[in-house]
Amino acid sequence: MSDTPVAENRLFEPTADFASKAHVPSLEAYKELHARSLADPEKFWGEIASELTWLKPWDKVLDESEAPFYKWFTGGQTNITLNCIDRHIQAGNGDRVAIYWEGEPGDSKVLTYQDVHDEVCRFANTLKKLGLDKGDSIAIYLPMIPELAIATLACARIGAVHSVIFAGFSAESIKDRVLDASSKAVITADGTYRRGKELLLKNIVDEGVADCPCIEKVLVVQRHPEKEPFAHDWKEGRDFWYHEAAEGVDSVCEAEPMDAEDMLFLLYTSGSTGKPKGIMHTTGGYMVYTYLTSKLTFDLKPESDVYWCTADVGWITGHSYIVYGPMQNGVTQVMYEGAPNWPGEDRFWEIVEKYKVTIFYTAPTAIRAFMKWGDQHVTKHDLSSLRLLGTVGEPINPEAWMWYHKLIGSEKCPIVDTWWQTETGGHMLTPIPGAIATKPGSATVPFPGIDAAVLDEEGNECERGILAIRKPWPSMLRGIYGDPERYKSTYWCKWGGKYYFPGDGAIKDEHDYFWITGRVDDVVNVSGHRIGTAELESVFVEHPSVAESAVIGVPHEIKGQGLVAFVITRTGAEGDEDTWRKELTAMVDKKIGKFARPEKIVFSNDLPKTRSGKIMRRLLRDIAEDRPLGNVTTLADPSVVDSLKAKYKG
Ligand code: WT7
Repeated sequence: MSDTPVAENRLFEPTADFASKAHVPSLEAYKELHARSLADPEKFWGEIASELTWLKPWDKVLDESEAPFYKWFTGGQTNITLNCIDRHIQAGNGDRVAIYWEGEPGDSKVLTYQDVHDEVCRFANTLKKLGLDKGDSIAIYLPMIPELAIATLACARIGAVHSVIFAGFSAESIKDRVLDASSKAVITADGTYRRGKELLLKNIVDEGVADCPCIEKVLVVQRHPEKEPFAHDWKEGRDFWYHEAAEGVDSVCEAEPMDAEDMLFLLYTSGSTGKPKGIMHTTGGYMVYTYLTSKLTFDLKPESDVYWCTADVGWITGHSYIVYGPMQNGVTQVMYEGAPNWPGEDRFWEIVEKYKVTIFYTAPTAIRAFMKWGDQHVTKHDLSSLRLLGTVGEPINPEAWMWYHKLIGSEKCPIVDTWWQTETGGHMLTPIPGAIATKPGSATVPFPGIDAAVLDEEGNECERGILAIRKPWPSMLRGIYGDPERYKSTYWCKWGGKYYFPGDGAIKDEHDYFWITGRVDDVVNVSGHRIGTAELESVFVEHPSVAESAVIGVPHEIKGQGLVAFVITRTGAEGDEDTWRKELTAMVDKKIGKFARPEKIVFSNDLPKTRSGKIMRRLLRDIAEDRPLGNVTTLADPSVVDSLKAKYKG
C-alpha cells in the first residue's frame, strides 16, 4: 500500500527473552543456517527430511535433469498423514489437543491427535467404501469445520488428490475446477454461517456439478448432526450423508505408500488470463518444507503453544499452515468457522483469550478492519498469552504493522511478515523470530534454502526490480495441471528460464531486506485474494450489452487493493447504467464469487488505446488514483481520457 516502503527505517529487535528460547536464537545462527542450506542444498534438505517418517528412503534429494520440472526426494516413499498424525501418537502425544474448533454460532469441539487419527481413518475408509481410490481427484467444498481438515487428510491418507475449493466461490467456479481436475467426487456440507446468515453450500454444489459428468458421488457432512439439516436438494444414488456412509466403518486405515513425487493436491489460483490454473503440489518436498517453515517461522513449541491461523483451508495458507505444517509439528491449534465481526467486532480477541492463543497469524486486510472498528474491542480482552504474531497474503502498510505491534502484540511479540504464494507452497521471505530484527512493511530475508534476489529485466541484481528465486526449493509447484507449457511460460519465461519468476516487484534495501512492491502482472490482490483482471473482463463481456471492458486494481483502505471496471457498452444497447451495474455485479457473484465484486463500475463510450488497439491500463490507474496523467501521445484519441476522468468522478 505504501508508495515508498524503504522510507521506513525503524528496526525492531527480538527481545532477549524470546531469542534465548527460540529455535534459531540469533542473527548469526540464521546466517549460518542460510549459508549452509545454499552451499549444499541436498545435504541440508536431506537432514531435515530425516527428522520425518518415511516408508522408504529417497535415492536422490534433488533431481534437476528435467528442469524446470524439478523433482525432490525421488525414490522415497511416505504418506504425509503419518507425519501429521501417527508420529505424534507413537511418541505418546495422542492426548494432546490437535484442534480447538469454534463455530460461528458459538458451538465448539475439541479434538485430540488420537481423535484426528480416528476421524481421518473413518473418513478415509468411507471414501474407499464409496469407491474412491489412490490417484482419484476429489473436490472439497466445505466450511471451516473440523471435517474440512479431516477430509483433506483423509484424501491424503488414501492417496487421492484433493482439490479444495474455497467455500466462498460460486457454483460456476466449482464447475470450472471440477471439470479441469476431472474430480470424481465432491465433499461438502449442508450449510454454514456467515455473520449469522445461513449459507446453503450443498445447493451451490448441486448447481455447480449439474453439468459435470465426471462427478459420481457427493458426500455431505451435516453441519449440526443433532439438529434438522439445512434446506437442501438430494439426488438419490449420487448423494450420501457422511454420517450414514460412515456407519460401521473402521477407525483404522493404513496410510497408502506414496512416492515422493506423487501428487498430493491441486489448488486453483488466478493468473493473468481468464482461466484459473490448477497448481500441482506433490508429496515429499511439500511435506518437508511445510514442516520446517512452520517450525522455524512460528518458532513452534508443540508442548506449550496454541497456534491460530485465521485463513481458510480453501487457500494455500490453510493448506500449508493449518493442515499440513502445524500438524506435522504436533502443535495445538484453533480453527474458527465464521466472520471476525460476528456476533461482535471482538470475536477474534474473545477467541484468543478463551483458548490462550500464543501464536496468531492473519492477513493485513483483517488488521486494517480491526483498526477501523476501534481499539476498545481489543483492549477489553486479555491477550497476554500471545508471544508471536504473523501476517500473510499482501504487503502490510507500516501504520497497520505498528497498530498490530502495539495493540495486539503489546510491543513485545515479534511480527513475521511472510511473503510466499500458492505456487511456492510455503514461506519464502520471512523474518525468523528470535533471529531477524523486523521493519514494518518488510518481509525481510529469505528462508533457509531460498536464494532470492531483486533483478532487472536482464537478470542483473538491482535495488528496485523484480523478485526472482534462483534455486529450486522442495515445496515448489510441480506444474499447472494439464498445461506444462503454461507452467514454463508463466514462471520460467524471464532470465532465460534460469530462475523462477513469481510476478512480484521488490526492493532490496541497505540491510539486504526485501520489500514487496506488489504484482507486476495483471493480478490484483483483494483482501489477500488473488483475482486476475482478465477473469473479470471475461465475465463482463458475456453480458449482451457489453462490448469491451478493462479492469484494474486500485489502492483500497481496508482491502489493500480493490477492483475498478471500465465498461464499454454496445451502441444501441438496451438498458441504463444502474441496471447494467446490478446485472454485472450479479454476474460476478455467480461466475466467481462475491469477494470479486468491483468497487466501482464506470461506463463509457471508449477506452484509452494505443494506435495498435492496446488498452493503456496505466492511464486507467492514473485516472482512478487521480494522478497527473503520464504520457498520452501514443493514444489513438487523447480526448478519451478527459471524458473518462469526468465519468470516473461522477
Ligand atoms: C501473492 C500470492 C501467501 C499465501 C496467501 C496468498 C502477495 C503474499 C505477501 C506478503 C507482500 C504478499 C504477492 C504474492 N503476497 N504474501 N507478505 N507481502 N505481498 O497466496 O493467493 O498465491 O497470492 O500474494 O503478490 O505473489 P496467493
